[in-house]
Amino acid sequence: MSRNILLLGAPGAGKGTQSKKLAEEYDLEHVTTGDALRANKDMETEYGTPRSFMEAGELVPDPVVNEIVKVALEEADGYVLDGYPRNLDQAEYLDEITDLDAVIYLDVSEEELVDRLTGRRVCDECGANYHVEFQPPEEAGVCDECGGELIQREDDTEETVRERLQVFYDNTEPVIEHFREQGDLIEIDGEATPDEVFDRITDAIEN
Ligand code: AP5
Ligand code: MG
Ligand code: ZN
Repeated sequence: MSRNILLLGAPGAGKGTQSKKLAEEYDLEHVTTGDALRANKDMETEYGTPRSFMEAGELVPDPVVNEIVKVALEEADGYVLDGYPRNLDQAEYLDEITDLDAVIYLDVSEEELVDRLTGRRVCDECGANYHVEFQPPEEAGVCDECGGELIQREDDTEETVRERLQVFYDNTEPVIEHFREQGDLIEIDGEATPDEVFDRITDAIEN
């Protein structure tokens, strides 16, 4: 069975949603640059803090992100990587530091991405993900898991979402094309329920 899994997809494609389930299913580490950066938003680096880039929807500079991924992958005994690589330089770096067993691309249309992101709510306490329409909590504004408050991510406003999607089309689509050309890419239609998408991914990994 595959142990080092890379999950690619646009903002809102469901990388976080599916990575969590995959990590549980196969007992893997969930390595996600977005969460790591959000936990260290005000970290001083020679380029400034991650916050300034993230709130504008721009990429955080490669050296900062590369280091986070290197350390996390070294510590992991099997992983699902989500949110990296986002440009060809990061893809090259990843190639130097690890071997991948499966590369999965979640394909979702732009219209659906915008709906998913602007309706997303996250738990302030435990980080659980919801959607006001597609995955509502039992009680509006309250986390089912821990009772924490549900908030909107600072980069989930419509304007920043558009910028993030543009950054994805300019920088990350070439990464997807790169894996496609190598013949390693498993392409999954990500427009179905989370459980259905999960079944598609596990079927593809195991067959
Ligand atoms: P990051 O946190 O990685 O954000 P992202 O890639 O923009 O993707 P998201 O987390 O928004 O979406 P997702 O695919 O995880 O979707 P989710 O499962 O939550 O990065 C944030 C920022 O950090 C970047 O903009 C950048 O600044 C910086 N950064 C991170 N990595 C970097 C790197 N490598 N280099 C440089 N900078 C970096 O689902 C979304 C919503 O849809 C949820 O509400 C969910 O409930 C709902 N949903 C999920 N699946 C379904 C479904 N099947 N049907 C209906 N709704 C669904
Ligand atoms: Mg995510
Ligand atoms: Zn919670």
